Amino acid sequence: MKRENKTSRESFSSSFGILVALAGSAVGLGNLWRFPYLVGENGGAAFILIYLAFVLLLGIPLLLSEFIIGRRSQASARQAFKILAPDGHWGFTGLLAVICCTLILSFYSVVGGWGIEYFVKAVKFDFTNASDETLSSMFSTFSSSTWAPLICHTVFLVVTAGIVVSGVKKGIESFSKIMMPVLFVIMTGIAIRSLTLPGGGAGVEYMFKPDWSEVTGKTFLAALGQAFFSLSLGSGMVITYGSYVKKHERILSLSVQTALADTAFALIAGCAIMPAVFAFGISPSEGPGLVFTTLPFIFGKLPMGGIIAILFFFALLLAALTSSISVMEVIIASAMEEFKLKRKTAVTAVFIGIWILGCLCSLSLGPMSGWKIMGKSVFDLFDYLSANVLMLIGGLLVVIFVSWKLGKKALHEELTNGGTLKIPDWVIDTIFFLIRFVAPTAILIIMIFQYVS
Ligand code: TRP
Repeated sequence: MKRENKTSRESFSSSFGILVALAGSAVGLGNLWRFPYLVGENGGAAFILIYLAFVLLLGIPLLLSEFIIGRRSQASARQAFKILAPDGHWGFTGLLAVICCTLILSFYSVVGGWGIEYFVKAVKFDFTNASDETLSSMFSTFSSSTWAPLICHTVFLVVTAGIVVSGVKKGIESFSKIMMPVLFVIMTGIAIRSLTLPGGGAGVEYMFKPDWSEVTGKTFLAALGQAFFSLSLGSGMVITYGSYVKKHERILSLSVQTALADTAFALIAGCAIMPAVFAFGISPSEGPGLVFTTLPFIFGKLPMGGIIAILFFFALLLAALTSSISVMEVIIASAMEEFKLKRKTAVTAVFIGIWILGCLCSLSLGPMSGWKIMGKSVFDLFDYLSANVLMLIGGLLVVIFVSWKLGKKALHEELTNGGTLKIPDWVIDTIFFLIRFVAPTAILIIMIFQYVS
């Protein structure tokens, strides 16, 4: 029964198409908004080095594990586990991924909406004309108001749904193919401008000269969470995209390239933001408001700042969109297969559900801020539950599934495409060791540490 949709299954058209779609999903608000402020909160270079180690030791093995599940089953996150292990209760893992993506998309769309508002503000040169007081209260005034953020969230979600409804090749792949190179050019340009600011050197030193005295257990936690969030791990994204990948593609190099691209973008975003922060004497440990509060302030003072602001928020929007479409696709693919729906129907239904949840997230920062669940606003709760709970559990289950349930033979088969690619044994052994022992241990330690503290 599951076989019949294999022949008609959608797929990406080329290796480059797969890479830009995967990198498009990975590169998003996680790189442009979350990474710089975490670097600033966690003391700079030392955090970056720990982050890089996690990407290498856990990120790549996890990307690969999800890839294996997706490509081997040729099915959505929800169905993949049921197909590969029909006898157990593994189908639950897929359901968890779908729930996780539902929570993520709800608040991601709200933040994406903020991006729209800030892009419009940039186009109107609001940052260059505003006083310091207006700039410093601009973000909190906007994000806590009722209607404007709701309208922006709606627009962002409509655009996301519009791309996803066009399907994998015409929608997701074509959009990412054009937008990822554009994003790269814009961000590199802004980074060069920032690096050449007088006084910007201090920012570079902050990012690349480690001060180990600042490192604590929290630093490791933040770095692992960021690696998961930024690489879109543990939430079915790579399973879903992996199911659109043909049997002859090299999933090991695709995984490595995705991790490299995502890391490169994070470092470029850091180089765009940190030197400017230091050049203007702003504290790098500003927290989540760094991009939305500090940057407009900097743009207001920079020569040509008006233009740079437009480019920056345009880039932020593109990055957010290539990620939000991937989160939505996880839900859509699963809904289509589970309930045998047409793409259009699935997108419409999911749009309505996410729109309502997103409205709750947005309102919970303003008019509904008194309404708390477990001491958190809906926005914070969704963020916390997805990034700090569900993604970690999802990642843990994925590595256990691949290394213990599917086993080394399956890993070998998938890495070498059934024996047609030459990959040295030690490479496969190392990857298997990382997936089977290192990844689960590290995730468990961090999770326990987190819940205990
Ligand atoms: N990785 C994206 C970012 O950095 C966010 C993202 C896309 C995501 N798909 C995801 C996060 C799936 C978690 C799960 O912004």
